[in-house]
Amino acid sequence: MAIVISGKELATIRRNKMKEEVIEFAKKYSRLPHLVVILVGDNPASVSYVTGKGKACEEIGIKNTTIKKPENITEKELLEIIDELNNDSTVDGILVQLPLPKHINPDLVINSITPAKDVDGFHPFNVASLYLKQPGIVSCTPKGIIEVLDFANIQIEGKHAVVIGRSNIVGMPVSKLLLDRNATVTICHSRTKNLAEITKTADIIIAAVGKAKFVKADMVRDGAVVIDVGVNRDETTGKLCGDVDFKDVEPKASYITKVPGGIGPMTITCLMENTLECYLKHMEE
Ligand code: GUN
Repeated sequence: MAIVISGKELATIRRNKMKEEVIEFAKKYSRLPHLVVILVGDNPASVSYVTGKGKACEEIGIKNTTIKKPENITEKELLEIIDELNNDSTVDGILVQLPLPKHINPDLVINSITPAKDVDGFHPFNVASLYLKQPGIVSCTPKGIIEVLDFANIQIEGKHAVVIGRSNIVGMPVSKLLLDRNATVTICHSRTKNLAEITKTADIIIAAVGKAKFVKADMVRDGAVVIDVGVNRDETTGKLCGDVDFKDVEPKASYITKVPGGIGPMTITCLMENTLECYLKHMEE
């Protein structure tokens, strides 16, 4: 039987703390932190994510503006909006919800956000800062994963961490964060041969592959820590499910996270933490 680590519980603790901090900061600086989220089109998953971000802001006391634009907005128009927000001293954080429509180059859009307001930590400046161990904004999901491991007092140093997935949003940055905590890290991906042979040697598995219930019991050694970063729909039930087959894997793991209620709530909480960090830097300039 594994211990189920509740990202939701940690998120609640962190959000309550931030709520109190925001009251103090607002007194000190005479204004609230301000996050602007840009949503292009009406992709249901994106709408749901953006709604969740707005609710978290409301809960913590962060001012939130959501700019909704139609699917046919031009790249130029979007870049103009970002330019205005970059130059608006009342805005601390800018987030463009991804994915964007095909006619818009997401790299160009991300690169146009000023790094000091890049609460996603996706700008090349912030990505480079992570890899060079220099101060910068760390992207939310990888940060949330490390916070969840620390919350459960799981030792990272000296452990073999196997990350399944090499995306810029999760796989690559979480691998770097684990390496910085002195784990020995293996990154697996779609072309990895003998995947199960590798995952069976892991002390910590980070599943960020984007395939429903991909990680099965026969891929996990007894006593492993299993962190599920997946956000998928179960084809038969239509319910939200992770990359890990929870029922199958849970009896073998020592610690495990669930979907929902695991890493998801921490991703949004880390976004709020990043927004506060940008606000404080901005106010203290
Ligand atoms: N779409 C899915 N995940 C994310 C995220 O973390 N940030 C942004 N901006 N878009 C996303």
